[in-house]
Amino acid sequence: MGRTLCILIAFSLLSACAAAEPVVGMNGERLFLDNCAECHQVDGRGVANVYPALDGNETVAGSGADVALVLIIGRGEMPSFRGALNSAEMAAVINYVRNAWSNRGEPISAAEIDAL
Ligand code: HEC
Repeated sequence: MGRTLCILIAFSLLSACAAAEPVVGMNGERLFLDNCAECHQVDGRGVANVYPALDGNETVAGSGADVALVLIIGRGEMPSFRGALNSAEMAAVINYVRNAWSNRGEPISAAEIDAL
């Protein structure tokens, strides 16, 4: 009895930890906070009429490659991240924004970004 209970508790604790784990690694979130949140905000909602929301954004939902092009080329007031982030970092931050908040998207790899 005691042992079964112990196993059950251990299992619930493990699942609780697994559920708390973000969909993509901490790395992408950290990169987002360091490079993007200043404009697009921590909650991905941006600032009305200045910085577009990334949560529920069509480009972000569309494809990782489109987001990568925005990062590589820059857009309007947004600087290019070509020199600031390498392709692995771009992949991590793109996979983060494409799966943060209400967004859900297939991951992109660093190799796919290199090919752009
Ligand atoms: C200095 C402020 C600033 C920073 C930092 C910044 N952005 Fe932007 N971002 C903008 C602005 C402004 C636009 C809108 C540009 C336009 O359309 O003229 C934009 C547009 C975008 C778009 C396109 C949205 C759309 O509706 O098409 C994406 C995707 C994006 N940013 C992602 C990011 C990511 C990811 C980062 C971090 C690596 C980042 N941005 C950092 C200001 C910023």
